[in-house]
Amino acid sequence: MDLKQRFKTIYPSAFFLENNAKAVEKYLQQQGWLAKQETLISLEKPGEGNMNFVLRATTNQRSFILKQARPWVEKFPQIDAPVERVSVEAQFFQSLERVSSINSFAPSCLGFDAKNFILATEDLGKGADYSFLYQKENQLTESDIAGLLQYLTTLHQLSVPANFPENLAMRQLNHEHIYNFPYLVENGFDLDDVQKGLQAAAMPYKKDVDLTAKISACGEIYLSAKGASLLHGDFYPGSWLKVADGLKVIDPEFGFSGPAEFDLGVLVAHLVMAEQPTSIIQTFISAYQKVININEKLLAQFAGIEILRRLIGIAQLPLSLDLATKKGMMARAADWIRKERLFFD
Ligand SMILES: Nc1ncnc2c1ncn2[C@@H]1O[C@H](COP(=O)(O)OP(=O)(O)O)[C@@H](O)[C@H]1O
Ligand SMILES: [Mg+2]
Repeated sequence: MDLKQRFKTIYPSAFFLENNAKAVEKYLQQQGWLAKQETLISLEKPGEGNMNFVLRATTNQRSFILKQARPWVEKFPQIDAPVERVSVEAQFFQSLERVSSINSFAPSCLGFDAKNFILATEDLGKGADYSFLYQKENQLTESDIAGLLQYLTTLHQLSVPANFPENLAMRQLNHEHIYNFPYLVENGFDLDDVQKGLQAAAMPYKKDVDLTAKISACGEIYLSAKGASLLHGDFYPGSWLKVADGLKVIDPEFGFSGPAEFDLGVLVAHLVMAEQPTSIIQTFISAYQKVININEKLLAQFAGIEILRRLIGIAQLPLSLDLATKKGMMARAADWIRKERLFFD
C-alpha cells in the first residue's frame, strides 16, 4: 500500500498534502489561507526533513511553508509517530511570537489546521540546515554562536506557557530511541551497515549493566519531567537553518517543559560530534551558565547519552568520522555518563 492509501485508510476524510499544485491551491482556498487575488504558482521541497512532509508554496504574492504530520516518520514510514506533534509545533511558534528577544529566530505561524495536521508558517528564506557542520573543517561562526546562545538562554528563561502540551507521545517515541533501543543487543539494526566494525565497537556499551542503568535513570527524568523550562526538544544542527539574515531555529515538535540541561546537553553532544573546537564548547557552556543555573551532572549525562545514541542508535547523522574517532567519542561519552561530569582532554 502506498503512503497516501495508508493515510486515507486511517483518516478517510483528511487532506493528504502532496506536491500537486491544483489540489493544494484548492485546499489553501478552502482554509482561507490565500488572499483574494492570490494564486499558487509552485510547490517545492524546501530542504531535507525527517519526520514530516514539508513543502514551500510560492504564490503570485509571497511564499510560505506547509508542514503535514502523518501518523508515521516520513523518513522511516515503518515507525509510527503521533500526529499531535504538529500542534505542539504550532503552539511553540505561537509562544515565541510574543517575545521580541527570540521571535526573530523563529517563523511566525500563519495558520494551523488541526483537522488535517497541517501547519503554515512564514518562509524564513532559502538556506541549508547546519548539518554541514558534521563535515570536516566546517565551524560555527561567532555570530552563529551568539545566536544559539541568545536563542537558548531566552527560551529557557521564558515562563512556560499555560497549558503547553506535555507532548508525552513524542517523548515516549524519543525515549525509545535515546534510552532503550540503542542498548538492546538484538535490535535488528546492524551497525556494520553504517560502518564496518561499529557493531563490535558498540557491544561493550550495550552490555554494560551499570552504564545502561544510569542511562535508564536519565530516561525516567526525560519522560517524567515537568515545569522548569520550555525546551525546544531537538536542539541539534538539523533544526538550525542558515539563511540570508542569519541563524534560525525550526522544528520544535519535540518541545515540552522540562530540564534545560536536556537542550544544552544535546547541543554539546552535537558540537562534539561535529568536532567543533573544545574552546567553543566550553565558552558556550560558561556563557550559558552566567545566565541560567544548571545541574552539571545532569548536563554531562544528557550530553553523553546523546553522543552514544547518535553513534549506535537508529537516528544516524551524516558524520564524517572514522571508526577510531567514533570509538574515542563513545568512550568519552560513557565516562561523562558514569562520572556525571563533562571533561574534554
Ligand atoms: N519556516 C521555514 N522557512 C524556510 N525553510 C524551512 C522552514 N521550515 C522548514 N524549512 C525547510 O524544510 C526542511 C524540513 O523542515 P523541518 O521542519 O525540519 O521538517 P521535519 O520535521 O520533517 O524535519 C528544513 O530542513 C528546511 O530546509
Ligand atoms: Mg527537521
